[in-house]
Amino acid sequence: MFDTYHDIFLRRADSYQRAMKLYPEARDAEFHIIANIVSSNRSVKVCDAPAGGGYLRRYLSDSVTQYIAVETTPEFINHCPSGASDTVLNCQPDAIDLPSESVDHVVSIAGTHHLPDKCAFFAEAARILQPNGCITIFDVEVGTGPAEFLNGFVDEHNSIGHKGDFLDSMTALDVAAQGLTVEANAVMPFPWSFDSELDMGTFCASLFGIDRADIPTVIKSIDHILGRCSGPKKVNLCWQMRQITARK
Ligand SMILES: C[S@@+](CC[C@H](N)C(=O)[O-])C[C@H]1O[C@@H](n2cnc3c(N)ncnc32)[C@H](O)[C@@H]1O
Repeated sequence: MFDTYHDIFLRRADSYQRAMKLYPEARDAEFHIIANIVSSNRSVKVCDAPAGGGYLRRYLSDSVTQYIAVETTPEFINHCPSGASDTVLNCQPDAIDLPSESVDHVVSIAGTHHLPDKCAFFAEAARILQPNGCITIFDVEVGTGPAEFLNGFVDEHNSIGHKGDFLDSMTALDVAAQGLTVEANAVMPFPWSFDSELDMGTFCASLFGIDRADIPTVIKSIDHILGRCSGPKKVNLCWQMRQITARK
């Protein structure tokens, strides 16, 4: 039987965290873009749900005075930032332990495809946002290379499996149904960048817990399903996600 994603991340977080630590610049593109969105909205109190190991934190400008990581997986919680302006909340993304109208920006990167009820999370985000506050969601889109890679190759070559419930052009309607005004809704490229193809294969194998394929097979599948693109480093993998930004 397929475990819940909460159970899966109890077992997979260690390997995911290792990949993010070994290749801290691989996902710079998506974190820089989301940090720019936060800055351009002058958001100072930011809630990241689910945050993983709080990877976004170091990309946010100094004007962000409070970074709140929402996370339930202990291995990730242990790696979340712990500075004076950082808070970690061990709670579900659809039951965030914050007062109503208390944050400027809710961000969610690559997490909603694991949630059993996305709308419950969107409603919770709308509750904790201040009037005029924003939610920005980045996640994998159905029918794209990343969706095929995760629910196909990763599902077959990770002994825990992968069955993501990805976003589509209609997801923004579920966000709008929470009383938010959608300002951006598009699929965007975010290259993942490496110095070598060995690094690319090693990162993906560790990030996605691929334990039933060797690195050359992972590289071959990346090239077949995702492909390469231009980017800041020698080897750039074509990752892409839907971005939805909405305002209260
Ligand atoms: C792919 S990671 C993304 C983490 C981080 N935002 C990033 O960009 O690397 C998925 C996240 O969803 C969380 N997660 C998965 N299933 C969950 C569930 N059912 N309830 C709550 N959190 C869940 C995991 O703990 C993890 O933080």
